[in-house]
Amino acid sequence: MALSFAKDIRPLFRDSPDVDTMKDYGMDLSSYPDVKAQAQNIYDRVLDGSMPCDEPWPKERIALFKQWMEEGLAP
Ligand code: HEM
Repeated sequence: MALSFAKDIRPLFRDSPDVDTMKDYGMDLSSYPDVKAQAQNIYDRVLDGSMPCDEPWPKERIALFKQWMEEGLAP
């Protein structure tokens, strides 16, 4: 079964500081439509380590996000 936003991706984002901080920058990481629309942008930033601002994601987590994108960004 393909990875889903609700089950696999949403839990990767902490309510704080990820979701609450990024709302101030116009992106709701708890919202499927927002994350879907910004997926490439989000991926680029977790891959280059500039987001989250406090500590970079481990490579397994980055790979999971990429897999979700490649499988078609299921809700
Ligand atoms: C996994 C969690 C996070 C993701 C996926 C994420 C993603 C992003 C993305 C894609 C942008 C660029 C926005 C644009 O293109 O308009 C951005 C900007 C920004 N984020 Fe995050 N963010 C995360 C967590 C955080 C945290 C924890 C902080 C700090 C407490 C933070 C602070 C900022 C700031 C200050 C900017 C604007 C300046 C810049 O572009 O570097 N973010 N974030």
